[in-house]
Amino acid sequence: NIYAVIMAGGAGTRFWPASRNHRPKQLLHLAGGGSSASNASSAANAAHANESLLAATVRRLAPLITPDRVYIATGAHLIEATAAAVPDVPRAQILAEPVPRNTAPCIGWAAATIARRDPEALIAVLPSDHFIVDEPAFRATLACALDGARRGHISTIGIVPTRPETGYGYIEIGGDLGPGLSSVVRFVEKPNRARAEEYVNGKKHLWNAGMFFFRASAMRKAIEAHLPALAEGLDRLDLAAKEGREVAALAEVFPNLPSISIDHGVMEKASDLAVTHGDFGWNDVGSWESAWELATKDAEGNALPEGAIAVDAHRNLVRDLRTDARGEKKVYALVGVNDLVLVETDDAFLVIPRERAQDVRTVVETLRSRG
Ligand code: GDD
Ligand code: MG
Repeated sequence: NIYAVIMAGGAGTRFWPASRNHRPKQLLHLAGGGSSASNASSAANAAHANESLLAATVRRLAPLITPDRVYIATGAHLIEATAAAVPDVPRAQILAEPVPRNTAPCIGWAAATIARRDPEALIAVLPSDHFIVDEPAFRATLACALDGARRGHISTIGIVPTRPETGYGYIEIGGDLGPGLSSVVRFVEKPNRARAEEYVNGKKHLWNAGMFFFRASAMRKAIEAHLPALAEGLDRLDLAAKEGREVAALAEVFPNLPSISIDHGVMEKASDLAVTHGDFGWNDVGSWESAWELATKDAEGNALPEGAIAVDAHRNLVRDLRTDARGEKKVYALVGVNDLVLVETDDAFLVIPRERAQDVRTVVETLRSRG
């Protein structure tokens, strides 16, 4: 049987003030929200305008993997908010990590949990915070990657790169493995700028979409080979589960697992990887700038709350994320301003030029240093 693990433990400081410790990126509805649909694809997306990125991830999987086979790994402090965001996923399948240890322990533990239910499980691991335009094409690609997993590979999805992005992993395409599937020469996580440029120009590399497909047993073997300390921790958790004391064991074992990403810990080292080329309109929603790119915009390029007034204003993103407004509408008015991001929440207000969207991190740092 096929199962999904959705990784939903990231922090997302680049979306301050919308994202907070208790309200990270995947629980926000960052992509939808404009007032007028200007073309067919944004009209389709507008139907889900108020959906969080996490809820969208579950919904778009459903024709292939129903919610009763979906597991969500998140931080213990996010359990309530996560359960509320995806009511169709059984509560027992929302896995709480006592402390974040990055994606290798997250995937290792979730896969071990599923393997206890179904030792032959085929698993699709997906991020919770990406935006996808063409959902049928996405599912077709998933089916293809799962086929690679069925044949024993750790399978990935590769996206044709359009810029020398240093925040992604790069997959060098190898020989043909059958319909839609290639072997992988090398997986390189987050190369430096010069290397990334080389990869983009060489045309032999694809971006890693951050999705992984495998048999539970294949991933466990790879972890045993490349992250023995993690494998040992997982053995202890398996034993504890058998003896009905997993919750206590988790609090003891999890904080001591090596804190490392699956990309650095397994993918860069494993042999027998496969890659499927994906072309479905993919965006790892990384900043307010990409939220603006994805938003439904009016003819002037503005994405504004309902009822807003814009005079001689262009390409702005305005978000009203107040929750204690008691149904009161606020009129946002822009006159003669271009390329700005304005975000209002109950306790903060951000104004920043779109092109400096990455700099909201400095706000978060300043707030942290104030304690
Ligand atoms: N449960 C859990 N626990 N989830 C986590 C944790 C954790 O400790 N850490 C991160 N996540 C979740 C994030 O919320 C996100 O959905 C996903 O795992 C990936 O983590 P990111 O931190 O966003 O990784 P990245 O974007 O830097 O890099 C990965 O994704 C890129 C594509 O977006 C890598 O796989 C790259 O190779 C890839 O190109
Ligand atoms: Mg990411």
